[in-house]
Amino acid sequence: SDEVLADRIRAAKATLGDKLVILGHFYQRDEVVQHADYVGDSFQLANAALAHPNAEAIVFCGVHFMAETADLLSGPEQAVILPNLAAGCSMADMANIEQVEDAWAELTEIYGHEPDADGRAPLIPVTYMNSSAAIKAFCGRNGGIVCTSSNAARVLEWAFERGQRVIFFPDQHLGRNTAKAMGISLEQMPLWRPNLPLGGNTEDVLNDAKVILWNGFCSVHKRFTVAQIERARAEHPNVRVIVHPECPMPVVDAADEAGSTDYIRKAVEAAPDGTVFAIGTEINLVQRLAAEYPQHTIFCLDDVVCPCSTMYRIHPGYLAWVLEGLVDGVVRNQITVDASVAEPARVALERMLAATP
Ligand code: 13P
Ligand code: SF4
Repeated sequence: SDEVLADRIRAAKATLGDKLVILGHFYQRDEVVQHADYVGDSFQLANAALAHPNAEAIVFCGVHFMAETADLLSGPEQAVILPNLAAGCSMADMANIEQVEDAWAELTEIYGHEPDADGRAPLIPVTYMNSSAAIKAFCGRNGGIVCTSSNAARVLEWAFERGQRVIFFPDQHLGRNTAKAMGISLEQMPLWRPNLPLGGNTEDVLNDAKVILWNGFCSVHKRFTVAQIERARAEHPNVRVIVHPECPMPVVDAADEAGSTDYIRKAVEAAPDGTVFAIGTEINLVQRLAAEYPQHTIFCLDDVVCPCSTMYRIHPGYLAWVLEGLVDGVVRNQITVDASVAEPARVALERMLAATP
């Protein structure tokens, strides 16, 4: 039962003490979050991995790319563990390294390698944290950088200081929403299609491009609609609508605010009592906020329930299993990034950490 599992997890944690740190993403179910030493958004969890250099094991309750990132940022003697290896991210899977290298080759053919008069490269690759270590490594090798939903605008500024234009992997919505907020027009952000031509006159499209968007998306956040926001406003005239920037652009435009999971949590925390929130993000976070802040009215824009099915694969049973393995001296489900990938991937991540105060 749930209580038996919770007791097993607590007992293993008590035995392991400081040798262990458990990190949990905001989208994890409560039965997992209650055991986490640190809960945060993907940027905070990357920093949390850096902040525990003495833990022998970092158990990451989140998805595969987050555990890879923790492995990149942690020490060589530390083991990063993903309780269920099937916890991937469908968006991260939408950019594979072969496709990315092909796109880069096509674009490099068009733009060349020559910097402009200000020394800016023709093209800078930027990848959302929600991508494989191989894509991060590609960015590291090609003058690029990683961003998260909490620092995407700052990272794009970094990229435009060094490049004339950007190719953004894999989330088209985060890329579009962020670029739009920076004043870039929709015509200047074409969606990449392999084997040109793009829509319209390819040469014109590519000459005008500022941010070339990869065709990825989050299947959870894609479900939110403008109609849901309109309904929330009709039912609650003072509602404050906050959505995650992985939502499609019309949804972000119709909302009052957009921000990372931690942005959403902070907004709820800082609001005066009695605020009504309609939130467009994963249901576990929304329901937890609703329970933690009973002084507000908090509901999810999508009342048919939208869990992230891969985040949900971290069942407490797996958590107990990997922790009891550690107690017995057995490391289960370790995530290790190959050194040839890890080195350049770390370069791209460190650029992000340095660019983000
Ligand atoms: P955050 O960076 O806001 O935690 O988002 C991660 C994620 O996977 C959202 O779908
Ligand atoms: Fe990936 Fe979307 Fe799940 Fe986030 S919510 S982990 S982007 S599938």
